[in-house]
Amino acid sequence: MSTADAFSQGPKSTRSDALVFFGATGDLAYKKIFPALQSMVERGSLDCPVIGVAKAGWTLEQLKARAKESVEKHGPGVREPAFSKLMSQLRYVDGDYGDPQTFVQLKSMLGSAKAATHYLAIPPMLFATVVEALSKSSCATGARVVVEKPFGRDLKSAEELNRILHQVFPEQSVFRIDHYLGKEAVENLLFFRFSNTFLEPIWNRNYVECVQITMAESFGIEGRGKFYDETGCIRDVVQNHLLQVVGFLAMEPPSDLYWESVRNEVGDVFRAIPPLRPEDVVRGQFVGYRQEPGVAPHSQVETYAAVRLQVSSWRWDGVPFLIRSGKQLPVTATEVTVKLRRPPLRKLTRRDANTFRFRLGPDMKLSLSARVKKPGPELVGTTVELAVVKQQSADEADAYERLLTDAMNGDATLFVRQDAVEAAWAVVEPVLDNVTPLQFYEPGSWGPREAERLAADLGGWEDPMGTPRDP
Ligand code: BG6
Repeated sequence: MSTADAFSQGPKSTRSDALVFFGATGDLAYKKIFPALQSMVERGSLDCPVIGVAKAGWTLEQLKARAKESVEKHGPGVREPAFSKLMSQLRYVDGDYGDPQTFVQLKSMLGSAKAATHYLAIPPMLFATVVEALSKSSCATGARVVVEKPFGRDLKSAEELNRILHQVFPEQSVFRIDHYLGKEAVENLLFFRFSNTFLEPIWNRNYVECVQITMAESFGIEGRGKFYDETGCIRDVVQNHLLQVVGFLAMEPPSDLYWESVRNEVGDVFRAIPPLRPEDVVRGQFVGYRQEPGVAPHSQVETYAAVRLQVSSWRWDGVPFLIRSGKQLPVTATEVTVKLRRPPLRKLTRRDANTFRFRLGPDMKLSLSARVKKPGPELVGTTVELAVVKQQSADEADAYERLLTDAMNGDATLFVRQDAVEAAWAVVEPVLDNVTPLQFYEPGSWGPREAERLAADLGGWEDPMGTPRDP
């Protein structure tokens, strides 16, 4: 059952009968798209023409060779008969996006297709050119469009991108990807919250002391210096992936009576978050970042950010939501901790309160810490973890496969709607760029010490399960 089936009873959309992906010779296609396409064919969810478009002077044979290399290096390897089937569905248009001929060719390759999905795996500055050309060549008729993050670099540019897309595609045909929403563990947040009776009575300001999200990465910027130096941590992961996680954690139950219900509730969460103030944010940069290729020698861009925000709703008033993320931290782990308030009998629970922990990556884990009596004559307690560990199994769809399949089926539940993307920009807008000072931190540390300030009244930051503290 898809997310849309579970949470809504809206009209079913037409399934796309062609998939066009712009940027076919690029990095994203190489690392994510070809492996996803092979899996889609394997599962039977992609049986239409797949048309790659790029300007690389390549032939179809070259694109096929690239696809093979892609599944070998970034996927499960060549899986037959799916791979050969995908190759028989693959077409290629080599041409400039500014040249109308490219779209004449595309139109003829689309043949009788009536509901194509156009996936723009290209830099946003090319969106306007491609969208306009799709319209002029009639390739946009009956079609939908999938666009990649980053969706703008602030509120104004996001509004402008939306304006460009809406000139040709109505909002219900626009699918904005945030690959976090395609992750099994992230979707499980939604499921866990709304399918367990024991949770709802305590999931509010009366019982929850704070919510913390840590997205730690032990690696650096991995050759993406130019992109990263124009982006920084807040734009790269806070405005999108991590606010989406806040959305799922904090939203009201979706009504199952109407289409769009999940997205309405997530949008309402973003609208209830007051814009961040400089004192809510600590920005850090790892020592050595400025020596990375593509990075400006005096760059002020953050590779680490910690923020403290509020969700000003009836349910969450006064509960701090803390987010931190950084490159070159001690571990790679994304984890949510929901800390409950301590029961009043302080002798039994001096420090530890109950916490729910959701490990969102790289593995998936869910645990609840509980207090139990330590065996022995004294009435003293200890904390135990009631944990369910779940590794990603081979047959779970990768986020890209999941999202592309949903887009082809016209199911927009796990895509970011215009109002939500704009509301999320409005939250971070006041602290973008160099509004707050930059602190330096050593690679392998937990980031700038200054970040401790944000969590000082909450007993500090919750490090992901089983990870070392700063030396
Ligand atoms: C991307 C960011 O969107 O998400 C990267 O650009 C980040 O900087 C990545 O590393 C993390 O995604 P995942 O799925 O590996 O946790």
